[in-house]
Amino acid sequence: MRRYALLVLPATNRVYAEASVALTRAELSVFAETVLGARLLDLAETRLGGVPYVTFSAETLSGRDVAYLSNLSSIYALFEVDGDAGGEILRPVGLTPLAEFDDDLLTIQKYAGKTNEYFTKLLLNVTVLASTSGTEMLDRPLHVFDPLCGRGTTLNQALMYGYDATGIEIDGKDVEAYSGFIRTWLKRKRLKHQAEFTPVRRDRKVIGRKLHVTLAPSKDAYKSGSTLSLTVVNADTLKARDFFRPRSFDVLVTDAPYGVQHGSRSGGAKLSRTPLDLLAAALPGWVELLRPGGALGLSWNTYVARREDAADVLTRAGLEVCESEPYLGFRHRVDQAIIRDILVARKP
Ligand SMILES: C[S@@+](CC[C@H](N)C(=O)[O-])C[C@H]1O[C@@H](n2cnc3c(N)ncnc32)[C@H](O)[C@@H]1O
Repeated sequence: MRRYALLVLPATNRVYAEASVALTRAELSVFAETVLGARLLDLAETRLGGVPYVTFSAETLSGRDVAYLSNLSSIYALFEVDGDAGGEILRPVGLTPLAEFDDDLLTIQKYAGKTNEYFTKLLLNVTVLASTSGTEMLDRPLHVFDPLCGRGTTLNQALMYGYDATGIEIDGKDVEAYSGFIRTWLKRKRLKHQAEFTPVRRDRKVIGRKLHVTLAPSKDAYKSGSTLSLTVVNADTLKARDFFRPRSFDVLVTDAPYGVQHGSRSGGAKLSRTPLDLLAAALPGWVELLRPGGALGLSWNTYVARREDAADVLTRAGLEVCESEPYLGFRHRVDQAIIRDILVARKP
């Protein structure tokens, strides 16, 4: 049995205040429960040299275990610990995160209502791990769908992992801002790509607008056809089925309107503080777009919808909510108007 100590990214302390270590433990437990070959024991918060670490014991972690853990949303460094309490020696374990692009893809855009990029990565991870594609997360390009995508934080994290990304957003200004950002960013990074922003027509009527980008992390990848696809539709998410084929996506990852910066619109009607009506109306379409074995990860503000009610809406849409211990540990305070939580559910 060996001991390991995980150092949490300092930036996540700013995002989660006191909750960063607890969220790291919960995310680590989801990795352990789903894909790690080694069992993690004695998970704890431990101070070493006055600095908090998340420590655990395991039979030696394999290269693949470390490759999974390298993608933990809050990992800064991982060490193997030798020696006794007070005289510990930390030996660095090399990390190999999935990182197809420079990380300013995730950090440059700043705007009111942005979902924090570390939190978005956490939500994507725990959703992918709950799906039957979890064991393939390092091996093949999954297809991620965010049906309330704002200015694309989820989409950018999906690209970062080398995945295909698709989103829907009702606010034309957000879609235009994202389109402008991604095109400028790709040009500035001199990444070969093809982008078009075109109307979508059905029966000669325009039903929305669509940004479609084909891109690759290198010239060679682009030339050999190992490209990624990025699609954003400017439309009401209730119409999602009009734009995509059933069973198109491996995971659906979304941060619902908080009732603070954004309200929820369902059926073009009035703006509502709670996202439950929007979720209930949109879920049948969303679920059809998920592959069987796929998973849905939802974050929302618990001040505007209770966890039991949100879980009930997911269950009524035919999904199986993940109720095991680590999935119950993600509730945290964002600010005085928002206590955020996560629900993950599988499509049978
Ligand atoms: C919490 S924000 C998501 C922010 C996003 N994750 C980001 O980082 O940019 C929720 C988004 O849902 C959008 N929205 C609300 N109702 C919608 C609907 N019926 N169809 C599509 N988008 C909708 C809002 O315009 C808002 O951009």
